[in-house]
Amino acid sequence: MKVKEILEKAYHESNLTKDEIKLLLMAEGEDKDLLFKTADRVRKEHVGDEVFLRGLIEFSSYCKNDCFYCGLRRSNQNAQRYRMQEDEIVEVAKRAYQMGYRTVVLQSGEDMYYTKDRLCSIIKKMKRVVDVAITLSIGERSYDEYKVFKDAGADRFLMRFETSNEKLYRKYHPGMSFENRIECLKWLKKLGYELGTGFLIGLPGQTLDDLAQDIILVKELDADMIGIGPFIPHPQTPLKDAKEGSVDLTLKSIAILRLLNPDANIPATTALGTLDPLGRQKGLMCGANIVMPNVNRLEYKLKYELYPGKICINEDATKCRGCIESIIVSVGRKVGQGKGQSRHYKRAS
Ligand code: SAM
Ligand code: SF4
Ligand code: FES
Repeated sequence: MKVKEILEKAYHESNLTKDEIKLLLMAEGEDKDLLFKTADRVRKEHVGDEVFLRGLIEFSSYCKNDCFYCGLRRSNQNAQRYRMQEDEIVEVAKRAYQMGYRTVVLQSGEDMYYTKDRLCSIIKKMKRVVDVAITLSIGERSYDEYKVFKDAGADRFLMRFETSNEKLYRKYHPGMSFENRIECLKWLKKLGYELGTGFLIGLPGQTLDDLAQDIILVKELDADMIGIGPFIPHPQTPLKDAKEGSVDLTLKSIAILRLLNPDANIPATTALGTLDPLGRQKGLMCGANIVMPNVNRLEYKLKYELYPGKICINEDATKCRGCIESIIVSVGRKVGQGKGQSRHYKRAS
């Protein structure tokens, strides 16, 4: 089957086989251009020209896990650890609101200092004080905790499954279980969260077949938001000498994910912008419709080092707000108004 025919099928059916996905991941030249153009068209037809902003608040750099790729892993003795307190987190959300953000993402390592009660209190206070949608990105918890956070006012949840290859998952996530991660994602969906998931591109040992399977798993999980990004080696991790993930494969994956999930929210991620100065613009032009600038204070941005060379690390939140708007306008789009709920989620509910 030719790439053109595969794209016709994807456009009409929002479905592809693993072999067809693999062919698209290998597309080059005119075929690749056509993949990006088709994904951009599907994006325009299903989610329009608005690009929604998410204000990222990274509130703790402590983590009990030891993921091989991440600078926050508990074995990294050189990581700079911090925890923000409730008032400070809510204050940052307020500032983000004043800058025009209508969604904040509360992200952290898996830090059990933030108990069920502490997190509930943060969510409730934030909801009382600012009219924002709250996305949690805090990793694995119990069904009961997820339920309590939802009842407290959390709207959305982001948790990547990182890789669908269970062998690789086991290798890079000591003490964790792929099965539990997927179980958590299913609970979150059942509890009515707007569900975000995704994977890393270019983990050492990952094959094209794995990547195609990752793309299929996202669809099977019925994700409302899909966050993917290239792996970037961190010097204080076991993967320090590994090769970084490919920008090209990331862009192709974004495009294919858009074809298969026409009305989902898909960000052009910071990691993509870190490996390529125009990475976010390119992402927005092949299917993405979301950007997630960091709205935290500089002091914390510097300490939350998942990987080296992160963009925006020396810019304050006001500067990023202006910068991101010019990026959006430069690709012929406009900043979204409102909370930017996933149309996929809206359609299902
Ligand atoms: N601890 C939570 C979790 O793991 O879901 C949320 C925070 S975690 C830092 C957010 C994401 O960062 C992870 O899902 C992972 O894909 C990404 N990440 C971590 N280290 C990375 C690296 N070296 N390169 C690219 N992305 C990385
Ligand atoms: Fe912790 Fe998340 Fe980093 Fe894994 S990816 S070490 S869970 S912060
Ligand atoms: Fe932060 Fe451009 S978005 S400096």
